[in-house]
Amino acid sequence: MRRPRVFALIFAAAATATAAAAQNARDAPPLREAAWLAPEANARAALTQTPGECLRAPEGEETRYLVEVGRAAFRNPLLLGGPAARAGLSCDSCHRDGRDNPDFFLAGLSDAPGRADVTSSLFSKVREDGVFNPLPIPSLVGAGDKAVFGSGARANSLRAFIESVVTEEFQGAPPPAATLDGLAAYVAHLDEAACPDGPVPHMETRALETVDRALAAAAAALGRKDGATADLLLSSAQQALGRIHERYAGPSLAEARARLEASARDIGAVRARAGAGEDAQAVLHRIEEARAALAALAPYLAAQRGESLYDSEKLAPKLSDARR
Ligand code: HEC
Repeated sequence: MRRPRVFALIFAAAATATAAAAQNARDAPPLREAAWLAPEANARAALTQTPGECLRAPEGEETRYLVEVGRAAFRNPLLLGGPAARAGLSCDSCHRDGRDNPDFFLAGLSDAPGRADVTSSLFSKVREDGVFNPLPIPSLVGAGDKAVFGSGARANSLRAFIESVVTEEFQGAPPPAATLDGLAAYVAHLDEAACPDGPVPHMETRALETVDRALAAAAAALGRKDGATADLLLSSAQQALGRIHERYAGPSLAEARARLEASARDIGAVRARAGAGEDAQAVLHRIEEARAALAALAPYLAAQRGESLYDSEKLAPKLSDARR
């Protein structure tokens, strides 16, 4: 580990959250992403809406495939590996919907809201001296037009910059080539002209779409005989399901959670079969079944939304007094 300090602190933040949960269940952060919310942030707003994704329609089938791979990987904490993954941190945690995140604050990574220390040591000879040098988290919209990436340590291609973020800063395993191509393609397609008018609400429909798109991209990766990318995308789908699951908290939503868990298990079974080299057609068929099952689950989840933590009124009492 090059930078144990930062990761020890991520752990510490997660442990503090867990301790707080044990101490007072009512005031425990109800959602994992609350762990990297600045204390002064309007938690209710930050957890119920998001700035909206500015994704330009990709041109051509190959680009469309790569953008979908990148979109799913961008939202998957497992891409980053290690403590960041365990804390649930993904590219999307800092670059919300590919944009900035003025409410981001994680002790040890941030000195002020909206800032994080992720590049101070990138490509640098001073990597191991523990320099604490947070920088503003930039929006990635329009980044594709730039020639140089990063302001601290620089790279002259999106792909090279992203590869160092994953493997050097977060110490994730080197991602499969198509995953890196995908992340670069995804970021390159974030375009100001494609931004929605205003913030969009967090909703299970949006989250289910993310699950479905990850599954579709996984099927496409399998069709291209790229098992490693397919596996990462299937795990992206599971992670996205987990984020829906957290929102369906409380005794009255046990059935919704059980159904989401069943879906996550189905996807786990697909991963196991794909990993074991089961016939590609059979695996693809199972992915289609998983997608159909989720489509069938959607109306049920929509009907329960008002009881879930997607609902601002249900979320508010779960936030500690200071955070309402
Ligand atoms: C902990 C917060 C955090 C996470 C997680 C994170 N980033 Fe960043 N990112 C930053 C910060 C801060 C910068 C600014 C660095 C600089 O100026 O040198 C940045 C810069 C970038 C840039 C350069 C933008 C530009 O205009 O030069 C790209 C591209 C990027 N990040 C992509 C990603 C991708 C892809 C991931 C996931 C693999 C990721 N980031 C994960 C905080 C984060």
